[in-house]
Amino acid sequence: MVITRTREELYKTLDEFFKQPGKLALIPTMGNLHDGHLSLIRLAKLKASKTITTIFVNPLQFGKNEDFKKYPRTENLDIEKLKKEKCDILFIPSNSEEVFSKYEKVKNLDSGILGSELCGKIRPGHFNGVLTVVNKLFELINPDIAVFGAKDYQQQILIKKMAETLHPKVNLIKAPIVRSKNGVALSSRNNYLSEKEFNIAANLFKCLKRSVNSYQKSEELEEILDNAKTFLTSKKLMPDYFELRDSELNYISKNNYKGDKVFLGSVTINNTRLIDNIEF
Ligand code: PAF
Repeated sequence: MVITRTREELYKTLDEFFKQPGKLALIPTMGNLHDGHLSLIRLAKLKASKTITTIFVNPLQFGKNEDFKKYPRTENLDIEKLKKEKCDILFIPSNSEEVFSKYEKVKNLDSGILGSELCGKIRPGHFNGVLTVVNKLFELINPDIAVFGAKDYQQQILIKKMAETLHPKVNLIKAPIVRSKNGVALSSRNNYLSEKEFNIAANLFKCLKRSVNSYQKSEELEEILDNAKTFLTSKKLMPDYFELRDSELNYISKNNYKGDKVFLGSVTINNTRLIDNIEF
């Protein structure tokens, strides 16, 4: 694996790769790689001849009181894991200047109305920061394919909408959620949980499954959502939101919506926010 830390090194390495035929797949991450990330790389390897992973904890997507400083950084372990997966290139910028250069104006993207709903309501500006960095990475790397995890459902929809206009040639792939044995969706933020909290967290997935079941049994949507919030609260998982939306994240007003849809939930447990969803 070629490790690049500056734009110059990145460009030089990509130039070599672009001389050969084949497709390049990008897996953008913030590091602290777990099996969820590795599944993205494995999927990318099935779709492309070359893979590039980026590790960059993007300051623009963290709010003032969020965990930018304490976000887990595990560079050496991450490099070992990427080598094992036979990732071809790693771009791990030595500082944020290598992504957002002081010599060019940052193209700040706006995530619109959807960007201020669901997670965006709790994290104002978060998705603007995500879109801004993903757009920049697409500009720097020019991938054929980019892979994002389905756990961050709203992120993946917003990136899809952004790419439709700014990067129509990039083929976006959504990779399925990877779960631990107890059902919790893998996330770097699970590291903040004690063992007891991690076991409690499993109730979010349980709640999503129960809600899908109830919907399929034609129970009233309003009642399903109320029951879900009561259930989560009873388990000491404080719901930030719990909603049903269509697969593009439009509101569903009908009770018996037949199209693709998704239950999405976000809960807080001891200051750690966890998100999860089920598509059906
Ligand atoms: O999902 C993430 O890890 C980040 O939001 C991403 C897409 C790498 C952008 O910083």
